[in-house]
Amino acid sequence: MTRLTLRPNLATLRFPLPLRGSLDLALSPLVREDDGERSFAAAVAGLRDLCADDLTAVNQTITLSMRSQSPMIGEIAGHLINAGGKRLRPLLTLASARLFDYPGDDHIKLAAAVELIHGATLLHDDVVDASRLRRGEATANVIWGNKESVLVGDYLFSQAFEQMVSARNLKVLQILSRAAGVIAEGEVLQLATQKNLEATFEMYLAVVESKTAALFAAAAQAGAVIAGADPRDEDAMRSFGRNLGVAYQLVDDALDYAGREKALGKAVGDDFREGKMTLPVVYALDRAAPADREFWRRTIAEGRQNPEDFDRARRLIVATRALDDTFACARRYAARALDDLARAPQNPFAAALGDLAALSAQRVS
Ligand code: IPE
Ligand code: IPE
Ligand code: MG
Ligand code: MG
Repeated sequence: MTRLTLRPNLATLRFPLPLRGSLDLALSPLVREDDGERSFAAAVAGLRDLCADDLTAVNQTITLSMRSQSPMIGEIAGHLINAGGKRLRPLLTLASARLFDYPGDDHIKLAAAVELIHGATLLHDDVVDASRLRRGEATANVIWGNKESVLVGDYLFSQAFEQMVSARNLKVLQILSRAAGVIAEGEVLQLATQKNLEATFEMYLAVVESKTAALFAAAAQAGAVIAGADPRDEDAMRSFGRNLGVAYQLVDDALDYAGREKALGKAVGDDFREGKMTLPVVYALDRAAPADREFWRRTIAEGRQNPEDFDRARRLIVATRALDDTFACARRYAARALDDLARAPQNPFAAALGDLAALSAQRVS
């Protein structure tokens, strides 16, 4: 059961913050509690409740923009879009616009564009990663095929651009179209570092900043820009989105080893199978005994894997504290995202975004 709690004495979370000292993160009264446990899902639900009417309008806009002369496009796009998803990125745009008291409705188009870009990249990404499960459903590449997924992904990109253009704001158009390009660069950079045991934290971070954080950053900034926020606020929202996006992907990469398929709605173990040099592997490899080093060479660099290897990889990642340190790194980025919000007006939208950041490093779904 989910219930809304309005407690005056808010619990605090303590994040280790080696880079900037330490910080207490207070949760707003908007965070629901699921059976007594503060959760990221509850923070997303809080944000969704706050932006409920806007989000309904965004979903309607997306549904309309999936219509096409080709029934197959509507079917494949609808399969992904209707399967759900958290709608995190459009929520960033909506909340960011409302945070700065935006009175109009162009933020709906921008938020729809953001989710359409995200949907396009998911269709493409599942082909690239040969993934079989997305949003709790079989992926489009499994049901229809790779070619179909790539082409419908392209169609979603085109619809995203139509929405962006219809908002008639050149600056926002530049921010979002640039993000779409940077995501593609991140995905290509990741291909280049795949199976490379020499990959470093910096290389990993460059991938994450491009393939994931760039869209979070653009989504949050776009809301501020359309609302006419001053340039420093706009920059702060962009930085908030970027730091939240890095934290989000760090956790995602930890959950690819430590998560549960049912909660995530996608398979665990895809990164290991594909030889992705995500942070848990970078850390585990760095701390590996010689025999374990050989294990990583065989499974990641050479891609020779046996059915029991994923379990061993998981054990090594836990034993070397690679998993703990990946979460610790995510907490540092989450704390930076909270810092970014400090100069924003104090209103329920800022509080809800703060909750999202504060709980992002402990998400399980
Ligand atoms: C999946 O994004 C891709 C990543 C950056 C990890 P989400 O976890 O936001 O997926 P949906 O939209 O909720 O399905
Ligand atoms: C997420 O890529 C970023 C994009 C979709 C561009 P991942 O491959 O890490 O995410 P999941 O695990 O498939 O959602
Ligand atoms: Mg993937
Ligand atoms: Mg991928």
